[in-house]
This record gives sequence, C-alpha cells and structure tokens, in this order.
Amino acid sequence: MALVDGADPAFVRDVLAGMALPQKAVPARWLYDEAGSHLFEDLTRLPEYYPTRTETAILAACAADLATQVGPGRAVVEFGSGSSTKTPLVLDAISPAAYVPIDISGDFLRASAAALAAARPGLPVHPVKADFLQPVALPSAVEGLPKLGFFPGSTIGNFGPRAATDLLRSMAATLGEGAQLLIGMDLIKDEAALVAAYDDAAGVTARFNRNLLQRINREAGGTIPVAQFRHEARWNDTQARIEMHLVAECALSFTIAGQSFAMGAGDSIHTENSHKFSLRSAALLLMAGGWQIRTRWLDADALFAIMLADRASANFAP
Ligand code: AVI
Repeated sequence: MALVDGADPAFVRDVLAGMALPQKAVPARWLYDEAGSHLFEDLTRLPEYYPTRTETAILAACAADLATQVGPGRAVVEFGSGSSTKTPLVLDAISPAAYVPIDISGDFLRASAAALAAARPGLPVHPVKADFLQPVALPSAVEGLPKLGFFPGSTIGNFGPRAATDLLRSMAATLGEGAQLLIGMDLIKDEAALVAAYDDAAGVTARFNRNLLQRINREAGGTIPVAQFRHEARWNDTQARIEMHLVAECALSFTIAGQSFAMGAGDSIHTENSHKFSLRSAALLLMAGGWQIRTRWLDADALFAIMLADRASANFAP
C-alpha cells in the first residue's frame, strides 16, 4: 500500500471506514487540506454563495446594538478562527479586553492572530492551538474575564443535531459562567437558491468537493479516477440540509491504501452536510446545547441569522 510519508493516519482510517459503508461517506473536515482551504476561501466570494457576504453585512449593521448587548471588557473566544474577515467587525464593535482565537491549524492561527494583533496594538491576543470539538483550557491571562464565544459562518450547520449539541455544550464548558455566544446560522430558504450556493456556475464548489478525491489519491495512495466523478448538491428536505456528493458517472473500481472498492453508475460518496435552520429550530438547538437566545439579527431577505445567546444556568428552565 502506497501511503505518503506523513499522511495523517486518522484521515486514512476515516476514508477506509467511510468507503466501506453502504452509502459511502467521508467526514467533511477532510475537505480542508491546503488546496481545499484555498478553494473554500474562493467559494465564499462567489455570487451564488450568499452566507459570507450576508453575515458580514449583518455584523456591520448590528455593531452598535451588539455593543449594547455585550458590553465592554469581555474576552472574545473565536472557535476555528481560520482566516476570518468577520472578526474585526466584532472586535471593533465591542471594546473587548482580549482576543483568543482557537484553531487546530497552527499556521492559519499564527498568521491571523499576528495580523489582528498588529492592527490593534492595545488588544492582548492569546492564540490557542486546539481542537475546539472538546472543551479547551483557555490561557490563564483571560481567566477572570467574562467571555464572548464567536462561531460565525454557520459552521454549526456542518454538524448533525447530536454533534452540534455536543459542540455547543463543550463551548459552554470552555467559556464558563456568564458567557455569551455569537453564532451565525444559515436559514432555510428557496431550494433553488440553496442548491445554487453549493453548485455554482463557475464550478468552484465542484473543484472544492473533487479535491477530496485528489487528496485521497495523493495522501492515501488511492487510484480513484477523479474525472469520472461529478459534483452534486442535493437538498434533503427531511433533514433540512444541503448534501454534497461525488457521483460515479459509470461503474468503476479503485484501490485506497491497498483496499479495493467498486461503485456502480450513479452511486455516490457523501462528503458534506450543511444544515439549514428555521428561527425555531435554531433556538431549540441552542437550548439543547445549553444556550438561551438573547437577541438575533437577520438581513432584510431573511437569508441568514446571527444569534446572541447567554449561557443558560442549570436551573433556567421552569
Ligand atoms: C464551512 N461551511 C459553513 C460551509 C457551508 O456552507 O456549509 C462549507 C461549504 N461547503 C460548500 N460550500 C461551502
């Protein structure tokens, strides 16, 4: 088997396990190697992909209200800071006492933390390299400060309800008593608009999706005939989610790390879920995760929502 030196064993394990399922599937987090992360940045600027620009516009419009609701002196803790351009809008709105970006990718983290710190000489920045799916120990420098968690982009939608609930609870544990959470959530809308956002005319999302197959070939010694797969975005109305699939255009077979796999024409590999929310389902998910919505802001077309929630105390229910 031709594994590339330094290939992440967890990647190979996940791919082999997912390819053995009746509905083949690979966890969406593996879409983000270096090429995938660049393609993702590219697709956020596409005309069809409304979430990024809509969320940014909402944040800009609600800045004064946000400042009133949050108050000064909080440590802003961003989950999966990546190369976010939304962070400055929050930091500039609320007079924070510190900024704590958390990301699993050290490179991204250092670069974005350095850029933010350079632009705000007075703001202490404490980057933390960690997997935020588990509770994270925050730096002692922010121990006594009230926290504002920031989780933009509707990334919460990439988790199923159970994992999303676990994640929200884990964030509540990380942020502690008296915390608030500012979270972006994409809303259910017209199916055509949703599908177009995940299947753009320029084919960037298709390249983003297909890059996963190239990554498997590169890092896990795969022989997948990438050109024989087409990208498909499907709206699953029962689960209220967009699904990304890679569909085999003909019967084909390949090996990954020495194991053989076969697919019939029309069979697919499921590569991502992006759940969409109603205002009620969003509130319910946040409550299940230990958060109580305080305020929410929407754009005029109700495409996207930003929720500000308070960490619920154990006895908050009647
Ligand atoms: C990162 N995440 C919130 C994006 C989404 O919309 O679910 C990932 C994405 N996949 C295809 N386009 C964007």
